[in-house]
Amino acid sequence: MDITRSVQDLYERFPFPPDPVTQTPPPGWNWRWSWSFAHSFCLGRRPRHEDIRILDAGCGTGVGTEYLAYQNPRATVTAIDLSAASLAVARQRCEKFSNVELAQMTLLDVGQLEGGFDFINCVGVLHHLEDPVAGLRALADKLAPGGLMHLFVYGELGRWEIRLMQEAIRLLRAESGSLENGLRIGRELFNTLPESNRLVQAERERWVLENRDDACFVDMYVQVQEICYTIPTLFELIDHSGLTFMGFSNPNFWSTERLLGRAPWLVEQADSLDMRTRLRLIELLDPSVSHYEFFLGRPPLAMTQWTDTRLLDALAHRSPYLKPWPAQQLFDHEYEVVNLSETEVAFLDGCNGRRSVGALLADHPLPEGLADVRKMLRHFMLQLDLDLQAPAEAH
Ligand SMILES: C[S@@+](CC[C@H](N)C(=O)[O-])C[C@H]1O[C@@H](n2cnc3c(N)ncnc32)[C@H](O)[C@@H]1O
Repeated sequence: MDITRSVQDLYERFPFPPDPVTQTPPPGWNWRWSWSFAHSFCLGRRPRHEDIRILDAGCGTGVGTEYLAYQNPRATVTAIDLSAASLAVARQRCEKFSNVELAQMTLLDVGQLEGGFDFINCVGVLHHLEDPVAGLRALADKLAPGGLMHLFVYGELGRWEIRLMQEAIRLLRAESGSLENGLRIGRELFNTLPESNRLVQAERERWVLENRDDACFVDMYVQVQEICYTIPTLFELIDHSGLTFMGFSNPNFWSTERLLGRAPWLVEQADSLDMRTRLRLIELLDPSVSHYEFFLGRPPLAMTQWTDTRLLDALAHRSPYLKPWPAQQLFDHEYEVVNLSETEVAFLDGCNGRRSVGALLADHPLPEGLADVRKMLRHFMLQLDLDLQAPAEAH
């Protein structure tokens, strides 16, 4: 069987992810699948249009597709996958939305779909292709100018134990062994190896909860095709796409401060390195990186820099995920608790997309002024738009 057929066969028999289908909206908010958040994160300001076209490439059972449809109600979402069984579940999950279309096809053939897409999501897929470069190039060709792509691929360093177990199962399963046989062998290995075993410990510490489900266990350990990356090979892949790297969508992990904050001179030295060398340094110092999640963009990509003058003129929109609203204690976009003062609540309450930051501050003076506004921006509590009526800032 060729690689694509083997991968298809795996996901026909074990559709992924195995999350139950519900009639209620998806839980919480995932900003990476919101066009206005992705745009604000990558380019500093809200997008001009929300009636965009989204592609979910390799949608599986549609867990991500559901967020894309729910969080971008004015967009149309096309979701494709190789596996008919996965698509059948995705169809059930997304039937409550009128803006989703599903199709069984390989992402290598996306060129056959009409037109371009403004936002492409491809999570957990490219690393299962025989030739991820060809897959990424096919997707890149469908990304509209000014469009953004969100990708997730596996990291080699943090999957070291997983890859050893995959190989061990392969040896015991032999070529002709079924996936079910591989599943049985894998489960038995984890039951048999000593508690102190490094592979067992990694499983217990990081993965055991999700791997209770057979589909997750097979996806992780009985996998038939997986190419993992390090920072150097990841950027080789990205360079082949011809797109621009816009940043990791888990930026906290990639902060030198997180690792070296107790030695400011080392932070300074690390931050003076060029971006790729700095990222490599971070993964060498914290090799727990099991995946890379990031945005790419197709030029033109104008980044808005919010100098103080420009920030005062910006139109402010309160983020739609702040619920229930109004409240002084909230979860931010990464589900961290944030406590707001009464004035901050009043300020955010006024962020209706029609008033400027300066006007809002005049009505609701915050103790640290723009510094407090920047803090709210870091917590994704508001989004900014250029006020095209405001006098242009002198350069
Ligand atoms: C690990 S699942 C990820 C599903 C989903 N993106 C998610 O994150 O929940 C990988 C999915 O990619 C699909 N897939 C693998 N190769 C593909 C290809 N060449 N074209 C389209 N889908 C593919 C598989 O069928 C499977 O449903």
